[in-house]
Amino acid sequence: MNLKVVILAAGKGTRMRSNLPKVLHKLAHKPLVEHVINAAQALSPEQIVVVYGHGGEIVPETLKHLNVEWSEQAEQLGTGHAVEQGMMNIKQAGMVLVLYGDVPLTSVDTLKHLLEVGSKEKCMGLLTARLPDPTGYGRIVRDSLGVVQKIVEQKDASEAQKEINEINSGILCAGAEQLRNWLTQLENENAQGEFYLTDVIEMAVSDGLTVETVSASSHWEIDGVNNKQQLAGLERQYQRNIANKLMEDGVMLRDPSRIDVRGSLSTGQDVILDINTLFEGDVSLGNNVNIGANCIIKDTKIGDNVNILPNSIVDSATIGNHCDIGPFARIRPDTCLADYVKIGNFVEIKKSIIANGSKVNHLSYIGDTNMGKDVNIGAGTITCNYDGANKSLTEIGDNVFVGSNSQLIAPVKIADGATIGAGSTITKDVLGPELALSRAKQTTISSWTRPVKKTK
Ligand code: UD1
Ligand code: CA
Repeated sequence: MNLKVVILAAGKGTRMRSNLPKVLHKLAHKPLVEHVINAAQALSPEQIVVVYGHGGEIVPETLKHLNVEWSEQAEQLGTGHAVEQGMMNIKQAGMVLVLYGDVPLTSVDTLKHLLEVGSKEKCMGLLTARLPDPTGYGRIVRDSLGVVQKIVEQKDASEAQKEINEINSGILCAGAEQLRNWLTQLENENAQGEFYLTDVIEMAVSDGLTVETVSASSHWEIDGVNNKQQLAGLERQYQRNIANKLMEDGVMLRDPSRIDVRGSLSTGQDVILDINTLFEGDVSLGNNVNIGANCIIKDTKIGDNVNILPNSIVDSATIGNHCDIGPFARIRPDTCLADYVKIGNFVEIKKSIIANGSKVNHLSYIGDTNMGKDVNIGAGTITCNYDGANKSLTEIGDNVFVGSNSQLIAPVKIADGATIGAGSTITKDVLGPELALSRAKQTTISSWTRPVKKTK
């Protein structure tokens, strides 16, 4: 189809009451305009041109990881003028789709439908909606046969036109050459003194085109963000949509209104997510995974048959099958747990590999550690990985038993089958399946008496 997309993102967004340009405010941890760019990318266009203005270079700078082109609109002279700036980057013929950087939730299906009707012979496409309260929007004016004639803006509308409840979303598609031609003819003699994109509708009609409309499936598909309330409202809508999709995929949500996904979440079969679970970045969950209440899981891959108990945080880790983690566990970046690993309460694991069947059940810190199979780490064990200047490695073999309240001063190696007596500070390598301990001998002083409180 030779599709090109122009995204308008030059507005200031005064009502956001923020220094940040409006389109950079985040919905589900991603700038508003990035949602729009991602929807555009899903249509596989030849070109995506984003028109920026207010806030200057910060918008292209923030989004430089995205493969789009940028057009500056130095002065915000209206939506028609903005599209004209974008069109300067568009050289060849084809179909142009206009999107808005502050309307983040338009579905790709709706856009595809719009492009379908808009690319029929002698047609252009316009996305509209019927709203119980159309105040503020441009109204769609149709003739007695229901054929679209033009759009009138709220501020230019007659009393009768204000009664029309079919509104303009702003999103439209038309042939590039025709659109370019109409844009050059725009005038700004209207209530706002702006070059209105909406005036191209009347021009299309007088050129003998039919304006085909597509209705948005729901008002949130065309809702824009102008203030923090609307941003919060669309965030909830976005999360509701994700929750619905997860449930369609068979995930059990204890409460669909108390889960947040800020990124992508893929799920296996029979996954159960309890309340207040938060997923960030790329998370994948295998089959039979249970996530307890109040957990945060970020950029992590979790295998099958895993239980994450309440109040645990897992960040940038890989977790195998049949693991139990938490409650109150913290798994930090670059941790890799194999299968049947147990991490209990108040345990922090950082940048460590833990092999099959090992257990760190209580109140421990394991950092920069390679741990073998079937190891048991007693309560209160600490790998002392940092000497104030450098981080060092702790290497623990298979089938090691570390007694409670031990410190392993890295760099240090504990051989397969070794036992560390409780309360030890281990500074030297343990070379075989022996007992190492560094505990002061217990003494008994039988003549000792407890102090007694003095009387005055
Ligand atoms: C526009 C439509 C209106 C429609 C409404 C839907 C026009 C004239 N009116 O009105 O029919 O019902 O959207 O929300 O098009 N922008 C620029 N540069 C500019 C002006 C605007 O980039 O010079 C961008 C804004 O950042 C925003 C979008 O275009 O993302 C819409 O602009 P806005 O001023 O909000 O248009 P409305 O008056 O709401
Ligand atoms: Ca607006």
